[in-house]
Amino acid sequence: SIARFTLDPAFTVGEVNARLFGSFVEHLGRCVYTGIHEPGHPAADEAGLRTDVLELIRELGVTVIRYPGGNFVSGYRWEDSVGPVGERPRRLDLAWRSTETNRFGLSEFIAFLKKIGPHAEPMMAVNLGTRGVADAVRLLEYANHPAGTELSDRRVAHGDEEPFGIRLWCLGNEMDGPWQTGHKTAEEYGRLAAETARAMRQIDGGLELVACGSSSQAMPTFAAWEATVLTEAYDLVDHVSLHAYYEEVDGDRDSFLASAVDMESFIENVVATCDHVGARLKSKKRIQLSFDEWNVWYQRRFQAEAEENPLDWPEAPRLLEDQYSVTDAVVFGSLLIALLRHADRVTVACLAQLVNVIAPIMTEPGGPAWRQTTFYPFAQASRYGRGVVLDVRAESPTYRTAAYGEVPLLHATAVRDPQSGTVTVFAVNRDRSRPLPLRVALPGLDVSRIVEHSVLSDADPDARNTLAEPDRVVPHAGHGARLDAGTLDVALEPLSWNVIRLA
Ligand code: AHR
Repeated sequence: SIARFTLDPAFTVGEVNARLFGSFVEHLGRCVYTGIHEPGHPAADEAGLRTDVLELIRELGVTVIRYPGGNFVSGYRWEDSVGPVGERPRRLDLAWRSTETNRFGLSEFIAFLKKIGPHAEPMMAVNLGTRGVADAVRLLEYANHPAGTELSDRRVAHGDEEPFGIRLWCLGNEMDGPWQTGHKTAEEYGRLAAETARAMRQIDGGLELVACGSSSQAMPTFAAWEATVLTEAYDLVDHVSLHAYYEEVDGDRDSFLASAVDMESFIENVVATCDHVGARLKSKKRIQLSFDEWNVWYQRRFQAEAEENPLDWPEAPRLLEDQYSVTDAVVFGSLLIALLRHADRVTVACLAQLVNVIAPIMTEPGGPAWRQTTFYPFAQASRYGRGVVLDVRAESPTYRTAAYGEVPLLHATAVRDPQSGTVTVFAVNRDRSRPLPLRVALPGLDVSRIVEHSVLSDADPDARNTLAEPDRVVPHAGHGARLDAGTLDVALEPLSWNVIRLA
């Protein structure tokens, strides 16, 4: 049997916000230290930034970077991270039982973003775990106020004459999670988020603020949390956050391959909750979604290790250094498809994280940097997933999963560039053993040739890229796709991520 759908330029989901291709740098493990920052490395520049990693970040096409956490931010003292490096204190990082040296801080982060390129935007989080309103506005004043006050002049004295101009701010991190330092109830957090937002807006009404939603759809407080928080903060924030991580559990690969079913329902349920609160408040405003942590993460493995061997406050330990397989990359591609399919409401998303820590880019201290399997779907989606998402309503053969019941073998989306008229189809075949024939009807689309069919798949679904074999898995050209009289016919390889570009 065959999978099929129709693409029509008149039927669209919405425009892709460039911020959908964000990522995340947390002070965690080796994301910062020996990841992006390693003075003394042969490829380090004068600021200690690894230029080999900077190049890969540019190739990845990251548009926004969330910083400095994550769980780390709930103990973050921003003032420790600025000023002369030699005078910065060493602190216990409670979230990751590590020692934070503060050799890399806010100013270094902004300089790092500038080196990525003019399009790279900061998404700064404030600490609403151990801190609150006063410190959030102090950080904002230090970062964004031009000059002439104690805090803004302090920034200038530290060598940053130009204000950082940070528009996008997270009001804390995962405050619904009992693991979070300073964890709060929805009522407590909703009030704090609202008051912090109000104070920050007294400095700058144009800021874009993200309230914490749920740490996953499985949280016991899910949906009630969002409703309570937004009842307090609806008029004061622009986005609510979503976080989700997926992994294969007990060898159930079929359910793992269907992870995007959960991601899509999570998005739809948050949209429904936000709009319910909006309706109750008789508000015309629509809250947008910031999916600011998403990925495949073998979290159970990490938790078991952390319980067995609690860390003794090391500096930049090897933590959460998952090596991603071809199977992981196919699931990951499917998560990207889920985000694109909801581009009308998901206007910010951050892949957690960027380097070494559950990351598309890996490094060895003193050694090379390389691309994980997941690097490729992200880079391709960021490069070609720009424009307007077309409404894809596919018919597809299905398969049975323990976690989600009957699930379509095909997961797909398509993005059209309105300027050039080119169309890119992103598609995943979840079938582990058989190719999936796909037929796409293209009425009204001015395309006549296949520019490229790129495939990520492998005879070994567990193949990975490693230090020893960094290019073991790379995308290859697909064979046999045909575009004739407005119909695309292609066979999607078993367990594959596909990018089909039409012009
Ligand atoms: O990305 C790793 C961690 O996952 C983050 O610190 C936290 O926000 C989430 O639980």
